Amino acid sequence: MILYTDQDFMYRFDPMAIHDGPKSGEGSVTSSRGADGAARLSTTADYHRFTPVDLMSEFTICESFSGPGSPYGIILEKPSSYGAMVGDFLVRMGLLKDRATVCEVGGGYGSLMHGLLGSHENRIERVYMIDLSLSLLKRQRDRLSPWKSRITSIRGDIHELLGAVAGVDLFIVNEVMGDLDTLTGIDPSHMPPEAEELIRAYDLDIPAVPFNLNIGAIRLVEALCRTGIPALLTEHSSDPVIPDDMAYLARDLDLDAYPREIKLFRHSEYTIRFSHLVKVARAHGRTARTGALLDLIPVRKGKNLETIFRLRACDTEDHEIIYELLDHIREYRWLVIS
Ligand SMILES: C[S@@+](CC[C@H](N)C(=O)[O-])C[C@H]1O[C@@H](n2cnc3c(N)ncnc32)[C@H](O)[C@@H]1O
Repeated sequence: MILYTDQDFMYRFDPMAIHDGPKSGEGSVTSSRGADGAARLSTTADYHRFTPVDLMSEFTICESFSGPGSPYGIILEKPSSYGAMVGDFLVRMGLLKDRATVCEVGGGYGSLMHGLLGSHENRIERVYMIDLSLSLLKRQRDRLSPWKSRITSIRGDIHELLGAVAGVDLFIVNEVMGDLDTLTGIDPSHMPPEAEELIRAYDLDIPAVPFNLNIGAIRLVEALCRTGIPALLTEHSSDPVIPDDMAYLARDLDLDAYPREIKLFRHSEYTIRFSHLVKVARAHGRTARTGALLDLIPVRKGKNLETIFRLRACDTEDHEIIYELLDHIREYRWLVIS
């Protein structure tokens, strides 16, 4: 683990930094699961450890609203940043206590935390930023320099670190789960032992045809549940939910699908089956609430958005931006575990 504090850079213990490059090919994406059938393991761990990550090519919702002046802000009721909107949502959900210690996992460019601290800094006393990518941790520290004394940055894999995190009031895991391990091409009649064990333990529904399973996200939710600490998780879902007042967004969308691959620069992500995660959290005795990410993004009301989406009326650049964003964001969900 590499740990930075407000004072300086402290090198403590870094099982990953012992080797200074990936073991088998930079940014390797897929590795064989071995002899238990056709299933394979998709992992992005080496990609995030060793490749300078470009989030702009990934179209994250967080970066789309990185500040109040972002081009996608034209869809909002009033200019805001994603971090500020997340903060308002956390307050509404009763999750942001006074003098809170917040731990964000996979903070990317630091934009969410920048917006959150910029709008709710009086409530947040301490921040831990955990990330696998050294280059992104550095970028987060630059972006969060106005609050330097409150930030501790920790380099490591969340699966290895979570059990050791203490004294935290809230975890934020924004658009990270799709990067975690996914078992792909699982034959339902010949499943790898890990998939079979999870499916049995949590009574997870599976299709009759080969499918992908978000084992990394499931393991993360298990670990979060064991901490007993509340968490907000968001991601691109395979089973989207559509806000009641925007039912038109359901057009041509499968609302009950299994994780699908999204190919990105030198790695792949997988959409997340949120209904599986809800089952896991509830099996651990936790309260799981979930909804559409649009619940926390106050978009302009009125017929205008619906007309643009229904007719794909993109005769101006603004319309194009609105259509593109709605088409993307409608598949995103949030999950709160408390
Ligand atoms: C798709 S980016 C999302 C960044 C940011 N949260 C956003 O929404 O723009 C995924 C982030 O998770 C980090 N990450 C991926 N796998 C991780 C792991 N196993 N442990 C810790 N961080 C991880 C990446 O380095 C990156 O910062």
